[in-house]
Amino acid sequence: MPQDPARSGASTKECLMNAFLEQNFFQSCFFERERFLTRHLDSMRIANGWKEYELLDAGDGEKLERWGTYILRRPDPQALWPKGNEALWNQADAHYKRSRDGGGSWDRRSTLPKQWVVSYDDLSFRVELMGFKHTGIFPEQACNWDWIREKIESASEPVRVLNLFGYTGGATVAALAAGGEVSHVDASKGMVGRAKENCALSRLSHAPVRFFADDAIKFVDRELRRGHQYEAILLDPPSFGRGPKGELWKLESHLFSLLEKISMLLSDRALFLLLNAYTTGLSPVVLENMVKMATHAVPAGVTESFELGLPLRREGIVLPCGLSVRWERSHASLPAKRALRSF
Ligand SMILES: C[S@@+](CC[C@H](N)C(=O)[O-])C[C@H]1O[C@@H](n2cnc3c(N)ncnc32)[C@H](O)[C@@H]1O
Repeated sequence: MPQDPARSGASTKECLMNAFLEQNFFQSCFFERERFLTRHLDSMRIANGWKEYELLDAGDGEKLERWGTYILRRPDPQALWPKGNEALWNQADAHYKRSRDGGGSWDRRSTLPKQWVVSYDDLSFRVELMGFKHTGIFPEQACNWDWIREKIESASEPVRVLNLFGYTGGATVAALAAGGEVSHVDASKGMVGRAKENCALSRLSHAPVRFFADDAIKFVDRELRRGHQYEAILLDPPSFGRGPKGELWKLESHLFSLLEKISMLLSDRALFLLLNAYTTGLSPVVLENMVKMATHAVPAGVTESFELGLPLRREGIVLPCGLSVRWERSHASLPAKRALRSF
């Protein structure tokens, strides 16, 4: 508020100068806050659209989550600050406890069902206590599901989607719900079964999807030989894995050549590529560099990389969980015929 010269005793010029400085001060505070938010959002995407999932607390190397009406407690190596209200933690229906040998197991209340369903908008998933502290869903992936849906829904032509290392089908279900045609690949028959079940729970049993219990590299090599192409490719490779016949997957050694190969599977109408990883110690920029270098031959596009995060109600902080890179075709780029290399 500008000063009133009659009341303050200051000259009109002084009052105007004060008002000018005050306005500048508030403006610079505003711009500083905007700059902070932009910086924060640039480096992170936060999954804040859940109603049936909630990160209740995190601390002392663990997280406490609500999955529908049940509360689960499990380890999280990023939660290096102290826990909040201890009484809340005692309400957990199941607790994944680490063993001395590095493994672990779930300690559950008898009232907890073997499995239950949790929904994100119109997408529904089976939740179950699994090995390696898994529950069958990575809730932070909801940011990527929203993006996948938006991209496919706004496409003017059919979108063929390849989902490699597809796990229980979170991204597959999102792509199908948006109208995509999906080829879902995972080494584990059990995970492929779970993905089919999640399609059915999301009322997508009749949607155009093919499931393959296969090794990701072998599948891609075969698709290249067959000349199959896709408008969208998703991949969420683990640090280490095995194909159905024991084929070794090691992210550090195999990711770059797989990215080069899948860039050759992108059609001239290619829309996007989405790479996600949970490998500890990797920077999002390293993954983005790999995508940029491996996709230099595909139509011109833009890449971005960021951490995924889950909002933690307490103290308004965010729990980082995983890294993603998105390559998206720029609207200006024209279809260009590319020769298919043989592998
Ligand atoms: C981290 S999970 C993927 C998470 C999932 N995409 C999501 O968003 O919820 C990794 C998956 O890769 C699969 N996998 C491991 N090695 C593989 C291989 N060589 N070929 C294909 N799938 C593999 C595993 O069976 C597992 O389901």
